[in-house]
Amino acid sequence: MIDVCFNYNESRNLYDKLAVVIDTLRATTTIITAIYHGAECIIPVESIEEAFIQKELYTDPLLGGEREGLKIEGFDLGNSPLEYSEKLVSGKTIIMTTTNGTRAIKSAIGSNKIILAALINSGLVADYMKLLKRDIVIVCSGTEGNFTMEDVYTAGALICKSGRDDLTDAAFAAKFLYEYMRKSPELLYKSCAHLINLIDKGFSEDIEYSLKEDTMETIPYYKDGKIIRDI
Ligand code: MLT
Repeated sequence: MIDVCFNYNESRNLYDKLAVVIDTLRATTTIITAIYHGAECIIPVESIEEAFIQKELYTDPLLGGEREGLKIEGFDLGNSPLEYSEKLVSGKTIIMTTTNGTRAIKSAIGSNKIILAALINSGLVADYMKLLKRDIVIVCSGTEGNFTMEDVYTAGALICKSGRDDLTDAAFAAKFLYEYMRKSPELLYKSCAHLINLIDKGFSEDIEYSLKEDTMETIPYYKDGKIIRDI
């Protein structure tokens, strides 16, 4: 069975299931990009204080993330996927905190396995979901406890591409939303509050990048406090 949680507070009944965590704008898109570009690992943490504490434990790490969409004071990188170039991140440990995405990843601890998805790796994740016999819970990060269209749209893309039809009502709803909206992607630009907010802050290029499907062939996964390359 595939289920969908519409925000990370709903993350539930994960025991023995695969958790697929989504924060399309922008945390999982950024993490997938960093791992694809050769980052050694990403360490997701919930607070800025924890990020600075973790920094002392590693050799020459980078600090990345955002609050209110913007780079945090004293950090090396923000939460724009375009910043995470091969040149900057290859071989690096990155300690990362974002408002919702890194919390969503932590909310899935207790599941059998946690993998990260966004539109940029949706085809590969869907192929994995198709082959897997295990129950799956797709955890949409949402925004501070609220439903966000772009995460549910991505959940729908995964379900649609996986071809699986053992779906809960929530999973059916996500699939229908994707099938309807993909015919007119400009609808996303009209209806996603967080997307509009990011455009206002000057991040249009991030959005264009994040909404492209199947550009990155990697599925990062979370194990023992770190996000590493490929399941
Ligand atoms: C988050 O984790 O809340 C987001 O990724 C915010 C953002 O777009 O930077």
